[in-house]
Amino acid sequence: MKSQDFRFYNPVKLISGNQALDSLTYELSQMQCLRPLMVTDQGLLKAGLIDRVNESLEKSDNLTTFLYDRVPPDSSPAIVSEAAGVFREHECDSIIAVGGGSVIDTAKAVNIVVSEGAVDILALKGSRLRKPMKPFIAIPTTAGTGSEVTYAAMIRDPGLNEKVIFASYQLIPDVAILDPRMTVTLPPLVTAATAMDAMSHAMEACISNHRNPFSDAHGFFAIQLIRENLLQVIDDGEDIQGRFYLANAACMAGAAFSNSGVGIIHALGHALGGECGVAHGVAMNIFLPHGLEYNMSEVKDIIGELLLPLAGPDVYVQTPKETRAEKTVECIRGFQDQLYKHTKLSRTLSQADVKKNALEAVAQKAIKDAAVHFNPKKITYEDALALLEKAF
Ligand SMILES: [Fe+2]
Repeated sequence: MKSQDFRFYNPVKLISGNQALDSLTYELSQMQCLRPLMVTDQGLLKAGLIDRVNESLEKSDNLTTFLYDRVPPDSSPAIVSEAAGVFREHECDSIIAVGGGSVIDTAKAVNIVVSEGAVDILALKGSRLRKPMKPFIAIPTTAGTGSEVTYAAMIRDPGLNEKVIFASYQLIPDVAILDPRMTVTLPPLVTAATAMDAMSHAMEACISNHRNPFSDAHGFFAIQLIRENLLQVIDDGEDIQGRFYLANAACMAGAAFSNSGVGIIHALGHALGGECGVAHGVAMNIFLPHGLEYNMSEVKDIIGELLLPLAGPDVYVQTPKETRAEKTVECIRGFQDQLYKHTKLSRTLSQADVKKNALEAVAQKAIKDAAVHFNPKKITYEDALALLEKAF
């Protein structure tokens, strides 16, 4: 690794463990919050996970909690405005986001709107956030996005069919509660897709042109934890210890990429999500080996080093240094085959029902995505299209 200046910022207080939710009221009291708005979705409500959070909140007599439970899988500015309206109507003073990436990102956007005194989140696109944010607690119910420790919120603009990114250190949550009881009901396919999102965060952070020793430490260990636990958790969803490690891995991968960036895999995934509505984790699984191969000419040694956390020390030492990078890609493909066998997680764009005539528009969008700036190799439209065709 070349020596270069960097900053690593991760000010989130992490509470992680099998009883972590029990700390929720204490954390709210520490921030002097009395009227939190809980933002979540219908699926989690029906699965009984919000009851679990409410049980924890009921331990305090001082709290009055309000609920917004209508976040859809692919959120929108209208949903953000609606939830912000609930926050204002009840004079809430803080936000608890309980959910996956869409819920946490929506709640972050609600925080922007209510803190900045805005009406429409899109009116703040590209502007600098100036007002202090409301206290924010993230309780992830998937182990994937890492949004509980990142400075970004992504909201889909239905008018332009694209995902708009809001980025500011102010958007980093104050507290993240990682309680594996909140992820045990996740079906195997979602568990696999979200974990491969985390895997792609970790790998892209480690090969990014902004990588640094701290993001490497988080990224490398996240890869190891996913390798050690994902297949077991898919086999037994109630493996609490495995769920605990996956939640920590996703969080570490989030801290890694929040500080060194992601690259072509995410640029393509954002474009594919905006253009064709493919779920982010599915897109990450499809693009991961192709993105590594694309970057091989620039960062072959680093991709080779990823073999150690990905395959373990035996495979690493038995593989000659010159072929470790290819072995890393081979192991990812082997991992994908296992996931496909157990969950039918798509490995190609055609399996994900993407139409070939959409590829040009996806490539056009991908090369304009902010993630391309962190990719170790420059990306042209022709490069992006060629990769998409390979992934088809
Ligand atoms: Fe991602």
